[in-house]
Amino acid sequence: MADSDSRAGSRYATKPILDWCAQTHAPHDAALARAFAVPEGVPAIQVGPSEGQLLALLCKLAGAKKAVEVGTLIGYSSIHIARALGAGGHLWSIEFEPRHAAIARDNLAAAGLSDRVTGVEGAGVDVLPTLEPHGPVDVVFIDADKVNYERYGAWAIANLRQGGIVLGDNSFLFGELHEDTDRGRAMRGFHELVAKSCDSVNIPTPDGLVLGIKR
Ligand code: DHB
Ligand code: MG
Repeated sequence: MADSDSRAGSRYATKPILDWCAQTHAPHDAALARAFAVPEGVPAIQVGPSEGQLLALLCKLAGAKKAVEVGTLIGYSSIHIARALGAGGHLWSIEFEPRHAAIARDNLAAAGLSDRVTGVEGAGVDVLPTLEPHGPVDVVFIDADKVNYERYGAWAIANLRQGGIVLGDNSFLFGELHEDTDRGRAMRGFHELVAKSCDSVNIPTPDGLVLGIKR
């Protein structure tokens, strides 16, 4: 069993240190600032600036052209991903809440990315099968309802090219990964599925980010 204490187990990432690193490596331009600032009534549950930048860099490393995102919210991570795909790339981004999808559409237009992103409204489990004709894809980023992560992960594994990457946000499940709940089981199932089909790791962002490269 790997011992999590064998590297001292200290966490040096204080808020001032994390904020300085985000400012230094991943400063917002106007389009990102706009999509990061949630309006009244929209939950502030987007990925952080450093995590958004990490998504972008991983897409670049993978040479990604085609990406699927489950959970647009208002388009902050979508902007990071879509920019990283470059001209000729395309992102299909799924959002369940019509109001969030509408705000995302405006934010993506303000970022000049309307041509590169297709927003699809609906539940991930319903929409994903309709995207299969666009596959195989290079990247799948999952950041939606946690109870369906295992299903989203299965779709990703089935529709990624070999060498393509699957990413899953909130992989610590807000600290509830081990709980005997539907979403606890689903998140553990997601981890195990990715580990079985990919070279994978859990990146210890504040709430965890699973990365798998499909074998
Ligand atoms: C929630 C969802 C997320 O994807 C996240 O990153 C943080 C919080 C939520 O549903 O509360
Ligand atoms: Mg999330």
